[in-house]
Amino acid sequence: MTLSNSAPAPAAGPASGPATEVVLEAVGLTKHFPVRRKLRDLFTREHAAVHAVDDVNLVLRRGHVTALVGESGSGKSTVARLLAQLYPRTGGDILLHGDAVTVKGGRRFRAYARRVQMIFQDPFASLNPVHTVRYHLTRALKIHGNAGRTADDLERALADLLGRVSLTPPERYLEKFPHELSGGQRQRVAIARALGANPEALLADEPVSMLDVSIRLGVLNLLRDLKERLNLAILYITHDIASARYFADETMVMYAGRMVEGGESETVTQNPAHPYTRLLIESAPDPDRISGLTADTGDRGNGEPPSLINPPAGCRFNPRCPNVMPRCTVDLPPRIEIGDRPGHWAACWLYDPATVAAQQPGSAAAATEEAAR
Ligand SMILES: Nc1ncnc2c1ncn2[C@@H]1O[C@H](COP(=O)(O)OP(=O)(O)OP(=O)(O)O)[C@@H](O)[C@H]1O
Ligand SMILES: [Mg+2]
Repeated sequence: MTLSNSAPAPAAGPASGPATEVVLEAVGLTKHFPVRRKLRDLFTREHAAVHAVDDVNLVLRRGHVTALVGESGSGKSTVARLLAQLYPRTGGDILLHGDAVTVKGGRRFRAYARRVQMIFQDPFASLNPVHTVRYHLTRALKIHGNAGRTADDLERALADLLGRVSLTPPERYLEKFPHELSGGQRQRVAIARALGANPEALLADEPVSMLDVSIRLGVLNLLRDLKERLNLAILYITHDIASARYFADETMVMYAGRMVEGGESETVTQNPAHPYTRLLIESAPDPDRISGLTADTGDRGNGEPPSLINPPAGCRFNPRCPNVMPRCTVDLPPRIEIGDRPGHWAACWLYDPATVAAQQPGSAAAATEEAAR
């Protein structure tokens, strides 16, 4: 087990090698939203802020899906919007192929969006109800310079886009309005529109959570197929850790604006290290769930996420943590390698070598604890 500071996971992680080139990277990404208070407070108090995202490090690799999992309000969408450069950030860097990029609209933003596209949760809201599928896709192709030169080129590009998302034959869909499509078909059109830019990275913010359960798998399989065929780097945001296990190569867990655990999806979901990840898995309706994790949680673990205006000191999960120790309420835990699989880490003092040593049978601390029982 090794302690590290909060630097991003090294490239030699669960998905290393030349085939897994890093496309997009967040380093120390931070976003605080100012809170507007009553007028008189402006003169008397410090400016309060929602600490939506703090010191987030994340790597998206070519041909890989990275899941970002966490409960509502943990900052997942804010991370995606920051990566898409839709918000200015409070701190940190976004690296595209290793180069720090900051864009604020205009031509540079379009050039960035050509390479990094976003898919939103609600395809009904993201498609304009007064325009047809043809309009949405043509616009995307033209904005990003992929419409070709002739009308035939455009038709071919449109058919190709619809084919990629399995909406065939194209003439059945091109003249349809969003309300004439099913939820799954709408999300496929939204995905096709994103592909119109021919991007390298897709940021998918809960792309299936608004869809009927019966069609979720189809859309996830489509994204997986696109990842493989187009060698896309995909960020898959979800609150459903079971789907991350199924769909993502790597899983990162976020709690109250901070990353708490990361590693190969299989390891994070089958061998969760952070008490918060365990809680998420316990509450997920996964039939393959590992048993025995529910022991000793008592009443803790339930409860609410903390206020992000005054987040708890130390580990933000400490007020809910079944394993809380005095140190957790004071010191922020760094990323600590768990050591079971390469690249598996948790930001939790339970894995601090000193804590682990104290828990070994025969240690003085273990003996004291035993006597106290
Ligand atoms: N534009 C904004 N202004 C102020 N606060 C914001 C803004 N956007 C998000 N927040 C706050 O930041 C925190 C994180 O929000 P975010 O939408 O990123 O969470 P999320 O993990 O995507 O949640 P959900 O699962 O519900 O989509 C929340 O406390 C939210 O209220
Ligand atoms: Mg969200």
